Amino acid sequence: MSDDVTLYRGLDGVHIDTSSISSIDGLKGELIYRGYDITELADKASFEEVTYLLWNDDLPTAAELAAFKESLKPHFEVRSDVLDLFRTMPDDIHPMHALRTAASALAAFDAQADGVGDDNVRRIGLSLLAKFPTLTAAFERIRTGKGPISPDPDLSIAGNFLYMLTGEKPTEAATRTMDVALVLHAEHGSNASAFVARATASTLTDVYSAITAAMGCLKGPLHGGANTAVMEALERVGSVEGVEEDIMNTLNSKGGRVMGFGHRVYRVLDPRAVILKEVSHTLAEESGDSKWFDMSLEMVRIMDREMAKKGKEVKPNVDFFSASVYRMLGFPKDMYTPIFAVARISGWMAHLFEQYSDNRIMRPRLVYSGPTGKTFSPVEERS
Ligand code: CMC
Repeated sequence: MSDDVTLYRGLDGVHIDTSSISSIDGLKGELIYRGYDITELADKASFEEVTYLLWNDDLPTAAELAAFKESLKPHFEVRSDVLDLFRTMPDDIHPMHALRTAASALAAFDAQADGVGDDNVRRIGLSLLAKFPTLTAAFERIRTGKGPISPDPDLSIAGNFLYMLTGEKPTEAATRTMDVALVLHAEHGSNASAFVARATASTLTDVYSAITAAMGCLKGPLHGGANTAVMEALERVGSVEGVEEDIMNTLNSKGGRVMGFGHRVYRVLDPRAVILKEVSHTLAEESGDSKWFDMSLEMVRIMDREMAKKGKEVKPNVDFFSASVYRMLGFPKDMYTPIFAVARISGWMAHLFEQYSDNRIMRPRLVYSGPTGKTFSPVEERS
């Protein structure tokens, strides 16, 4: 490798552009959406307010919020031919394959799918923000032999999602818990899927292509798929007593990663994990079943102990406590990542607004490490 090339594997420490959407202080454990601390937003703001914030310069006034919610209403419904796609799919596929396919299919029915001017990108953003919960709930119902439920445009995005999933009007408490989860998962800087969305958009291809690419990226177990992997680990372990052995087995295996722990940016506890831990605790107390929460706490205890021995700061991330929260809300474990996407469409779109408005194609380089100077010989002469 030549001396004047610096490798940043995994793009670690690389800044690809400026952004005014969010910032992370990994040493303080701070996440800011356009100047507002995530802890305060999770406590006080709805997912709609936060999305407005991410898509504009500031929080909405009451009139702006009402207008934003009104503008979403025509977009909640998903055409039946797109929902019919779910009926043609095997019941046991990963829901992210189904949702990614549906998001892509929406482009076929949008005559302006390819426009990348700001108005058109924002129109598609509204449509996808409204349709993601409808698609996610419909897939779950169709694969379990139930018919999809039409959205109720008078409910919030969080409330509507729960309603379309269960067919029952959700309680205020359940809606608020869902809202908090959506706010916490809405945006997180240049995470892998937001980066992929921006890189895809940087070719000036369409929004649907960028979002479809981001969904494929989110699905991976090192990113948004980690929440499902955490629940798989909790189920495998089964009891507080089983936690230590399971974690030690993972840590002692080659390249072993305990799912739901660690982060590229945070060296202290992820502030979203702090909030979700509290939510998980509350749900455990309310339900009288603290099994998932207790096992989660034990995982943290063992990881803290083991990481301290190695001098590493590997703390729970957003996916860790979201697993037990979603479990106690009654969601099947393979739906956790689609729920992440229902929230993250908000952040992805904010990144696409920025990218399209001041674009430069993303084209990093690789350091060639293969052979040189070989001589071609015809195929029949090769041994
Ligand atoms: N379990 C055990 N050790 C870990 C873990 C973990 N989950 N995460 C990091 N480490 C150790 C790792 O062994 C490494 O040590 P060494 O330098 O001696 O090799 C050190 O910490 C740095 O880890 P890394 O994998 O090089 O860090 P990274 O920034 O490349 O990867 C990560 C970050 C999130 C992919 C990684 O921590 C991981 O695989 N975590 C588990 C999967 C997970 O929970 N993903 C969700 C991420 S947050 C939400 C999201 O983006 O969706």
